[in-house]
Amino acid sequence: MLVCDCNEVYYDAIKEAVKKYGSDIETIKDATDAGTTCQCCLEEDCEKVELPLPLAIERALAELD
Ligand code: FES
Repeated sequence: MLVCDCNEVYYDAIKEAVKKYGSDIETIKDATDAGTTCQCCLEEDCEKVELPLPLAIERALAELD
């Protein structure tokens, strides 16, 4: 599932990063490059991606729980 179009980051990479580094969005941005270009995917209603970053982090936390 695409999380960041600009940097082609998919949900699996976000989940891995949350597992390793926790759920802080700045840390996840640094670790994956998601959200570091146009920043659309930082907004929950971004239409460029399937699962914007804040929702991807939430999902990863729920799945890793
Ligand atoms: S879609 Fe993520 S930075 Fe542009």
